[in-house]
Amino acid sequence: MHILWNDQLVEREAVKIDIEDRGYQYGDGLYEMIRVYNGQLYMLSEHLERLWQGAEKIRMVLPFTKEGLTDNLKKLVALEGIKEGKLYFQVTRGIDSPRNHVLPDPEKVKAVLTGNVLPYQRPVELMETGMSVGVVPDTRWLHCDIKSLSLMGNVLALDEAKRQGFDDAVLVRDGKVTEASAANFWLVKDGVVYTHPDGNLILPGITKMKIIELAHELGIPVKETAVAEAELFNADECFTSSSLKEITPVVKVNEKIIGSGIPGAITKKLIAAYIADVNAQCGESDNR
Ligand SMILES: Cc1ncc(COP(=O)(O)O)c(C=O)c1O
Repeated sequence: MHILWNDQLVEREAVKIDIEDRGYQYGDGLYEMIRVYNGQLYMLSEHLERLWQGAEKIRMVLPFTKEGLTDNLKKLVALEGIKEGKLYFQVTRGIDSPRNHVLPDPEKVKAVLTGNVLPYQRPVELMETGMSVGVVPDTRWLHCDIKSLSLMGNVLALDEAKRQGFDDAVLVRDGKVTEASAANFWLVKDGVVYTHPDGNLILPGITKMKIIELAHELGIPVKETAVAEAELFNADECFTSSSLKEITPVVKVNEKIIGSGIPGAITKKLIAAYIADVNAQCGESDNR
């Protein structure tokens, strides 16, 4: 397997991660996860835009251009021969020795990029049957808009939900639904689709952005409004969205069955529109 390591494509075994890399010691860095369909990187420029915005928010200097990174990511996908896959890459603030909390001078300490691409297929079965979520308190920090490497809050929330027998967590902060452990969260009531507005409490999902555009085209009203936890249990439909799992219907919240326990009509319409958009952008793929 080849890894993109800064601006080189190397065998995995050749990559050297320093113990004083700030990503390793502090989780000081950013990441992106992008889907590959038909050998093409879906919504690549939107992901890169979010990375650049995140870098600005954490005052990290990226030592490459969007064009340079785009070229290298495309080369990695081509070299690995991946048609249907998931590309992960992260950028840490670099190797800072001796360890020191103070942000290093970016002239002296360069950000470190690593990325790989793996085969991955659309989770068709999950999208057809839906999943359960358990309500878990959102105990994450107040910069959830930053796609930070530090995922402790998300990891523990997912673990909490899994321990209770659910597939994922729906996070609630101050009585309001924020998002899922690694996805945005959506609720449908009386034909209107609700999701949390962008801001510091959720990640501005690339899939979320696309769904809002598609809903507009389909004439489905969307309200970016934080909904109360109690409204979860009166929802007609719920779903999550992420690059990895696209649009995943939610058919159970805690012990409450949502709608008739199967993916709802609006959710299904959005799934069909999303797949059509993927095919239009990337060409028909092997995915079902
Ligand atoms: C916490 C969180 N929210 C939302 C998302 C969805 O983001 P995107 O649609 O850009 O994949 C993710 C994806 O990893 C996430 O981790």
